[in-house]
Amino acid sequence: CGIVAFRGLEPALPALLDGLAKMEYRGYDSVGIALNPGDGRTLAVHRTSGRIPALTALIPPGERSTTGVGHTRWATHGAPTAVNAHPHVDCSGSVAVVHNGTLDNVSELQAELVAAGHVLTTEVDTEVIAHLVEQFLPHPPFLAGGVAAPSADDVARAVEQATARLRGSWALGVTVRGLDAVVLTRHRSPLLVGEAERFAMASSDLLGFAVGTHTVRELDDGDVVVLGSEQAWYHRGQALATPRAGRPAAPVEPLADMGDAEDFTAREIDDQPAAAARLVDSLSERLAGGLLLRELGVPARTRLRLVACGSSSYAAHVTAAVLGSVARIPAHVVVASEPPPPVEDPDVLTVAFSQSGETADVLTALEHWTDPVLAVTNNPRSTLARRADSVLDLACGPERGVAATKSFTNQVLAGAALAVALAAALGRLSTEDVAGFEAQLRAAPEHMAATHRLAAPPADRLARDLADEPAFIYVSRGAGVPYALEGALKLKELAYRWVEALPAGELKHGPLALIQEGTPVIAVQARPHDRLAVNAREMTTRGARLITVGPGEDADLPVKAPAVEPPWGPLESVVALQHFARGLTRLLGYDVDRPRNLAKSVTVE
Ligand code: G6P
Repeated sequence: CGIVAFRGLEPALPALLDGLAKMEYRGYDSVGIALNPGDGRTLAVHRTSGRIPALTALIPPGERSTTGVGHTRWATHGAPTAVNAHPHVDCSGSVAVVHNGTLDNVSELQAELVAAGHVLTTEVDTEVIAHLVEQFLPHPPFLAGGVAAPSADDVARAVEQATARLRGSWALGVTVRGLDAVVLTRHRSPLLVGEAERFAMASSDLLGFAVGTHTVRELDDGDVVVLGSEQAWYHRGQALATPRAGRPAAPVEPLADMGDAEDFTAREIDDQPAAAARLVDSLSERLAGGLLLRELGVPARTRLRLVACGSSSYAAHVTAAVLGSVARIPAHVVVASEPPPPVEDPDVLTVAFSQSGETADVLTALEHWTDPVLAVTNNPRSTLARRADSVLDLACGPERGVAATKSFTNQVLAGAALAVALAAALGRLSTEDVAGFEAQLRAAPEHMAATHRLAAPPADRLARDLADEPAFIYVSRGAGVPYALEGALKLKELAYRWVEALPAGELKHGPLALIQEGTPVIAVQARPHDRLAVNAREMTTRGARLITVGPGEDADLPVKAPAVEPPWGPLESVVALQHFARGLTRLLGYDVDRPRNLAKSVTVE
């Protein structure tokens, strides 16, 4: 989820809507806004299970409130309906709350509030926060019968008292009828405050700020900030506090458009070779002699822990394999949502792979360890980048399709370059070896571009052929396995097909039982492929329909592979698999860029 808040000398609506559009990557199940006229009139709360144009349509023309909060949701507690969308309000509709995070003690609080006479209308955890704030305000803020409007201190104190009752994670924006202000606080979810000449804003990330924002400050857990009379007032405990260190705001960039492409995913698949070439150009000449590591400020550690989720975890698996084969550096991949117990090891470097740099599981996992962290991310101003000791920028340009495409291929190349740089810094590669890997890295974009041209038409034909198949099996061996897993994830994310994806050798230990006459099995060839050929025969003998992805002329999805397979394996195969997944998704009539139930970055654990 993403939140935005605005208080200024001009209408809040344009900045709130623009900020929400830029934060849709954090969830797009539903969206909502609360506008506070600030003079005692009721809050205007608008919510929809549609997207931002549907929200805009709900707002009456001439809306000129200068204070408001907004939220774009990825549902946790409660279905993605308009009623469950944020902002959530208290019984009287006088307290509106937007929240990124999840509460762990929601049932307990709901029971307590109901016993105290509150009427809860949803199952959403955030609703209890609105009722708690209401409960802790010194007098009802409804202004009915001339009751005085609450002061900023009243609301800040009520927010502090309410959050003292919460367990879990939150970044909160609270606005109360009768007070022309927004109160903000956070605990284990990022929240930034931006200052401008004519307004103050808050946003879950740096993308959400409006033009004119000159300084941005990141809040710490427990900070309370009041956006009031176009300034931000910082509190810690009951006292006014000096603001956290500010940094210049990033230039506000317009949202990337899709140009002539039919969807963002198509554009981003297309852009892959160029994005890869940009990255490789910038990295490859710095591999020798540990230059890259020195520039990044990364210590040449001898053990690596690679932390990631989803597609990024498959890029981490490729990196681990390259670290093992090229650098003889043991590396293990940690699924960020399942971090193992901390073990003291002064020789470990943690590398966090996250294209968005905002994935909550990754950020939380990092709290387990004390070793230096290198972030490999496409957002060098993200929460992850701010937390890491060093940042390797993927420099893909914006990726708006929810399914990772160019960020995945660039993560693989960045991970491979990092492995070579580490091996060089530890003296485990000769100058000639480094030059050899550099040449292989430089060749990768051209192989991806050639595969793009070769594989797109057969991938579309295959999609037509297999459109009615409900389930697939994706296999490979050795260096090809992460690409089979990534290709399978594209099919699940976009085309909603059930896919079993695994190393081909594992089939005979169970999943072979799934194969019946005609079951489609997609086999990603990596060299040497003799064992994969044996496994393929085991499947076809039992009726499987084998679809090969590889360099041979008779491959069903042909790829342009280099003569010698690099240590990162058949990277280009994933380009063919992306085309297949997108082609099938379009045939089925699903939204290629915004699949159901997903977010580009999931910002709750
Ligand atoms: C979400 C997306 C996945 C993505 C994963 C990790 O679940 O739907 O496509 O791979 O997050 O995202 P990150 O930004 O950390 O790489």
